[in-house]
Amino acid sequence: MCGIFGIITSKDHPLGPTLLESGKRLAYRGYDSVGCATVSAEGTIDLRKGVGRIDDVSADLDFPAMRGVRGITQLRWATFGSPSYVNAQPHLDSDGDMVGAHNGNVVNNVQMRELFIREGMTVRGTNDGETCVHAVERHLDGDGTPTQEDMLAAIRAAYDDLEGDYAFVITHRDDHRLYAIKKGSGLVVGLGEGLSCVSSDLPSILPITRRILRVLDGEIVVLSPETVELYSVGDGANIERDEEFYDGPIEVAEKGGYPHFMLKEIHEQPAVAGELLHLLNSSPHVDRFLDAMRATGNRPGNRGSLYLVGCGTSYHACLLGAYYFNQLAGVAAVPVLGPQFIEQYGKSIGPSDTAIFVSQSGETKDVLNSVKVMRERGGRVLGVMNVLGSTLMNASDVYLPLACGYEISVPATKTFVNQAVLFLHLAYRLAGRDTAALDALHDLLDLVTKDTEEPARSVSAYLHSWDDLYYLGYGLTHPIALEGALKLKEITYAHCEGIFSSEFKHGPLSAVHDGYPVVFFAAPGDEMMMINHVNEVTVRGGRAIAVAAPHSALQSNVHDYLVVPNVDRYLWPILATVPAQLVAYYMSVARGIDPDFPRNLSKTLTVD
Ligand code: F6R
Repeated sequence: MCGIFGIITSKDHPLGPTLLESGKRLAYRGYDSVGCATVSAEGTIDLRKGVGRIDDVSADLDFPAMRGVRGITQLRWATFGSPSYVNAQPHLDSDGDMVGAHNGNVVNNVQMRELFIREGMTVRGTNDGETCVHAVERHLDGDGTPTQEDMLAAIRAAYDDLEGDYAFVITHRDDHRLYAIKKGSGLVVGLGEGLSCVSSDLPSILPITRRILRVLDGEIVVLSPETVELYSVGDGANIERDEEFYDGPIEVAEKGGYPHFMLKEIHEQPAVAGELLHLLNSSPHVDRFLDAMRATGNRPGNRGSLYLVGCGTSYHACLLGAYYFNQLAGVAAVPVLGPQFIEQYGKSIGPSDTAIFVSQSGETKDVLNSVKVMRERGGRVLGVMNVLGSTLMNASDVYLPLACGYEISVPATKTFVNQAVLFLHLAYRLAGRDTAALDALHDLLDLVTKDTEEPARSVSAYLHSWDDLYYLGYGLTHPIALEGALKLKEITYAHCEGIFSSEFKHGPLSAVHDGYPVVFFAAPGDEMMMINHVNEVTVRGGRAIAVAAPHSALQSNVHDYLVVPNVDRYLWPILATVPAQLVAYYMSVARGIDPDFPRNLSKTLTVD
């Protein structure tokens, strides 16, 4: 995700404390590495950056002592390219005349870097933020101080070269302005007395000024201490926009205007899914990951097995992954709970086996214990994690990031969606399918979030008075039923069990009585079969709530219907996750519980 902040002031003064404070307010967006750059009135650039959290790096490098009239801070959430000094941002251009930093993903980063090297530029790292700086550099002629027109032309040309979603801020030592551009990533401007600033997000601006200007995609901002101008990247035309006054509390801004981080993170799902797909489509790491999966069993004496290992929500993603690999690619994968892996398979693991360990935090002890056994027995360790630099990342032969940015709310939401998206992408690749079909997920997730929020709230009003209920899914929706039930348990303190729907009649059905709620998840194509399972419940007085695509026969058999669009049956479970999350969220709020910080739970579980 990453966060950027830039400021320009009329007087040379200690900018360091402002850069530090603004950086801290963006720390939720990334904390693998951090850097600050200041430019003095005479054009001297002071660049300080390092690996780690902002307080630690600042204590080492003394950010508060930095002075200047322009400043940039960046907080990095690494995706590819380990957190390291060279990859930490901001970055200099070849001669050290310009400094800049970005937020987002440049998906043709590798090709652009090769181009810069061929053209003789000095490329220091592999980070795509550096690519943004060089992309501007290659369109400046290098002689003398660039004018505003030169800089605007170079940034517009860079925009044509850079593929992906990003925002960046850049300044030239001799040009007394700061420039920023937005393409798909957040960017907002602040207008103060004798200063202007720009940031990925409002919380870093509000302590400085409440006068703000929203930047839209395809716009370049030119900041001076007294003025802010907007230009269209398309035709270079000047754009007029009125400033706004933000009078809300900073805490609300931190939550993006939502009452809880959980709701904010649910609403971030379309964007993070889109970013992850961009990344997976363009990354050579995916080929290495797939090669390791395909190599499973390729050694004599052992047929080799593929395991998918995770805990809690991450385990549910593993389960969905197993359905995807089987149904799309004919590849058998065994989903296993982290702590169960050693007990159930530990002694039979050998060098032909591969396990994909899945963890948001990358620090879950139950998962890491299994990684250790896998290593000891010579198996391949593949990792999928959200937190880069985590123990799991370092222990993996090959890893893939979830690229969700910081998930603050204890219940996992956007990381589950991206785990599912990642497995679906891998299954498509294994099956030789065109992954372009997955690009629709961004818009579909957006649509389903908007369309199911109110219906989910009204279903939660019925569930609110029940302390015991069931969620049922069949095949592809079984993991979604488990995940929906886990969310509900976590944040409402009700007991909710997720079950494979055909299994319900083998015992749990006896719990059903008048009004007893059972929620059914039916993927497109499974509706007629699900009607049987629904009727087993309704004839006994139970209340059936269906989450399904429009289907009149199913709808006439249930009491409540949460409609999810009728799309490809493999994409559908990812969409159906959203109403499941929203039902849990609204029931939690209705019960007066803070869904972000439920009792007894912790975001990272580093104990056995
Ligand atoms: C549920 C939840 C937990 C985690 C589990 C594994 O919302 O957050 O069930 O999924 O503790 O954590 P990670 O994915 O960090 O290994």
